[in-house]
Amino acid sequence: MNESSNVGPPAGRRDFLKKVCAGIIGAILGLVPVGAGLAVFFDPLRRKTATQGLVRVTTLEGLPEDGVPRKFTIVSGRVDAWNKFRQAAIGAVYLRRTNDGQVQAFNVVCPHAGCFVDYLPERGHYLCPCHNSTFTVAGKIDDPASPAPRGLDALEVEVRGGKEVWVRFRNFQAGQAEKIPVA
Ligand code: FES
Repeated sequence: MNESSNVGPPAGRRDFLKKVCAGIIGAILGLVPVGAGLAVFFDPLRRKTATQGLVRVTTLEGLPEDGVPRKFTIVSGRVDAWNKFRQAAIGAVYLRRTNDGQVQAFNVVCPHAGCFVDYLPERGHYLCPCHNSTFTVAGKIDDPASPAPRGLDALEVEVRGGKEVWVRFRNFQAGQAEKIPVA
């Protein structure tokens, strides 16, 4: 009698172990696409956090070197975690270079009652046509008789790669001395 034929589990048990092993391997392989699918599914949440709120407006070359403000429309798509909506104008800003090489951004909306201010190059200041508030080129109240309760609303600016100008566009409540963002 050959002794080696008695080594190892009986044939029925071997089949059972093979099936268990195959089942485990199959389950592991099945989890790979599920994990990849979940990563793709949740990726928009990660991307939204990385880019939320900043809008590319222009390049530094698009701004006069002498500090005169230039007006730009802000175009942005409304984005939630999984949907991207059509690009549309959501507001406007004045951008200007400052003496120290920075870029300043102001929302064009007058903080008195919400009209759009104009920049008057011949006077070197902003004028609101509705009730004649005036603002210096740096956004401060110019004429103390201005009914605006605060200066123009400055916005956060980022210059990326030394040339692209990005702005965090926000609107703020009119008629308040404090700068309160509109939700
Ligand atoms: S809305 Fe600008 S001064 Fe009144």
